[in-house]
Amino acid sequence: MTRTVGIDDLGVYTPAHRLDLDVLARVRGVPPEKITVGLGVRQMSVTPPWEDTVTLGANAAQRLLAHGTVAREDVGMLLVATETAVDHAKPVGIFLHELLGLPSSCRTVELKHACYGGTAGLMLATEWVRSGAARGRTALVVATDIARYGPGSSAEFTQGAGAVALAIREAPRFLAIDPASGVYARNVYDFWRPLDRREALVDGKFSVYCYLDALDAALDDWARAAALPGPLFSLCDAFLYHTPFPKMAYKAHARLIAHEWRRAGRADATLAEAIEHSYAAAVDPWLAAARLVGNTYTASLYFCLASLAEQTGEQLPGRSVGLFSYGSGCCAEYFTGRFAPEAALVAGRLGLAEMLAARCPLSVEEYERCSRPPGEAVPAAGDVPAIRFLGVEGDKRRYAAAEAQP
Ligand code: HMG
Repeated sequence: MTRTVGIDDLGVYTPAHRLDLDVLARVRGVPPEKITVGLGVRQMSVTPPWEDTVTLGANAAQRLLAHGTVAREDVGMLLVATETAVDHAKPVGIFLHELLGLPSSCRTVELKHACYGGTAGLMLATEWVRSGAARGRTALVVATDIARYGPGSSAEFTQGAGAVALAIREAPRFLAIDPASGVYARNVYDFWRPLDRREALVDGKFSVYCYLDALDAALDDWARAAALPGPLFSLCDAFLYHTPFPKMAYKAHARLIAHEWRRAGRADATLAEAIEHSYAAAVDPWLAAARLVGNTYTASLYFCLASLAEQTGEQLPGRSVGLFSYGSGCCAEYFTGRFAPEAALVAGRLGLAEMLAARCPLSVEEYERCSRPPGEAVPAAGDVPAIRFLGVEGDKRRYAAAEAQP
């Protein structure tokens, strides 16, 4: 018998600082509407010097563990997905393993494939549990990233920072993941970051093309794997996309609807109207966090999932969702899931909207100071995350957890 496996609980985290992008646009001499309307993004989270990829991920996981739904001693696998790692050999996950007080009998690995890494982790963890190898234990998947591009570049407006931690187990209380999924991989140079560079390089327009091309191919593969009873838009109540900027999710949804109409043999006469209607009801509301946090690479799709959960609340149980994950380079996956009867309870603990509203606005000068290599400042009182970066001593990174941490 196939086990029902999926996301049992989740924790989200983004730094306590934000930059309003209309302010940045004015300073850079760009029309603000190009950013707020053309890209659809309004703010981005900015990482202060006392935070890094490790602390973002650890704080997201710490928030999940604070719910009391996952016992630390039951975690048998920790997969940390990131494309902004802190060391070429030592994985981000091993810092989290210590900071979170996880058991020594816990497989701990860092995963990389650009923004797709978080979904790679989710799928590997789901299959580990489904196979029976987990023996009742939980897998923790943490997607954590800081999106950085060169100052003054057009991509500067698509930065951001944040992390999402997912607990994966049998009989999940949040979202059951369906076994069928569609995958696509192809070597392309749309976005990359050579080992000696802090900021990503990108062929922006080509990356949009690669993303949409990968969506078409992943949908074809998914339709074969799922032996579909009907087109996707009649099967899913909501659609979530990897969202480097919200307009990308609009372009993706337009492509998905057109793809599914073609597959269903429908005539194109009312396609444009159908796209607008479907986007407004089934995609746009779940972009609320992406508009305010920016691109969080591996975590981006899961910020949309958190937004959907928080806003849908009591209406979640039984609803189905389609998810598209894209990682430059590239690898992509389309999959679906269904919310569990207890999903509203899980959503009620997230605290995402509250966290976003509490962020402190920065000036462009303060944001530029934060963009320097980390470790040059200490947090002001009241500004200290539960787990923070202390700096580098003798080539070794140091972190501190607040007193309450076991
Ligand atoms: P750009 O050159 O700044 O912008 O690059 P543009 O000229 O393409 O304009 C953007 C939109 O604004 C256009 O809308 C314009 O018409 C509109 P569209 O035609 O696309 O619908 N516009 C205006 N709207 C209102 N008022 C105005 C105005 N002016 C223009 N005055 C680009 C944009 C996304 C290429 C750039 O920001 C970039 O390179 N970003 C980084 C790459 C990226 O995010 N790619 C997305 C796909 S790849 C991906 O998602 C993977 C990734 O997350 C990495 C990973 O996998 O790890 C990036």
